[in-house]
Amino acid sequence: MKKIQMVDLKSQYEKIKPEVDKAIQNVIDSTQFIGGSEVKGFSEELAKYLGVKNVIPCANGTDALQIAMMALNLQPGDEVITASFTYVATAEVIALLKLTPILVEINPDTFTIDPKAIEKAITPKTKAIVPVHLYGQCADMEPIMEIAKKHNLFVIEDVAQAIGADYIYKDGKKVKAGTMGTVGCTSFFPSKNLGCYGDGGAMYTNDDNLAAQIRKIANHGQSVQYIHDEIGVNSRLDNIQAAILRIKLRHLDEYASARNKAAAYYDKAFAGNPKIKTPVRAKNSTHVFHQYTLVLNGVDRNKLKEHLASKDIPAMIYYPLPLHHQKAYANPRFKDVDFPFTVPLCKNVISLPMHTELGEETLKYITDSVLEFVK
Ligand SMILES: Cc1ncc(COP(=O)(O)O)c(C=O)c1O
Repeated sequence: MKKIQMVDLKSQYEKIKPEVDKAIQNVIDSTQFIGGSEVKGFSEELAKYLGVKNVIPCANGTDALQIAMMALNLQPGDEVITASFTYVATAEVIALLKLTPILVEINPDTFTIDPKAIEKAITPKTKAIVPVHLYGQCADMEPIMEIAKKHNLFVIEDVAQAIGADYIYKDGKKVKAGTMGTVGCTSFFPSKNLGCYGDGGAMYTNDDNLAAQIRKIANHGQSVQYIHDEIGVNSRLDNIQAAILRIKLRHLDEYASARNKAAAYYDKAFAGNPKIKTPVRAKNSTHVFHQYTLVLNGVDRNKLKEHLASKDIPAMIYYPLPLHHQKAYANPRFKDVDFPFTVPLCKNVISLPMHTELGEETLKYITDSVLEFVK
């Protein structure tokens, strides 16, 4: 059996190696490293896949969030509501722009922001909501969009972990994660479901004016060369990464199926165990399983992790601390009583290896090893 990894990028690469190597070589031969045809082609193909008018690539997912907030002209002191149970990047850019991150509770079954908690946190200063489609499932977007409409708020979807997931409206209509809000922001970090071989990110929007503003901000605040109407940043996806992403985009749905197959194996193996809660599938979203995350009940998580490590099985904790417990984001306004799910979840979640290359032998070894510890 191969060495088990949280994400096996090598085996995935081997299956598409001739195509990828050729595409990389073509970019090198063209010496068009920045802003070339691959970037344009990838942006158009991703827009088509997502069913969105504009895809604007950038250097990484954190930049995508930052540029989106700059393009929406959010101002210091504006409040932006997001979940405390997320990766730091979501709140980091809010704080970096001197906006105020307002951290709220999630739904304990789906790990995504609770619309009722959003509504409770709204003040006259609230300008935007950032739902995070955590672990590969969409946040509850229909009520979130209703709240946004009612209070005239922007919605910036953090799609870093859920590219390709479908949200299903009450009337049955299906749309891709990141295309419902004002703007969607994603990451192409190598381990992401659509990952490149370095850093990358993108923003998507159906609003052409906002797209133009995003392009401008991402390019030093210029729409005409050397004319800078406002302060921007330098954030680009390079042509080699775009060439790789074009190939991997063609496999994205098949990758999601492979992840779902592994998730189904895990589900079955752990079914009925009172000490293990397997991921709950939201009724209004497909799951692309960026992570397969268990919630432990009465199990010593550190000891389980050590037990797995002793058998060469990696496991990760996403995330060990709620953001409101992090020194950088602490605020007397955030009280643990308002986070009855987030606080214990941070102590009890554990993510198992999840990627596109997990075979039954490996899955059996992992699940047997977990169950050996969690009797
Ligand atoms: C939820 C979430 N948001 C934002 C990001 C930031 O993406 P990047 O690492 O490409 O900057 C990540 C990446 O890990 C993420 O998981």
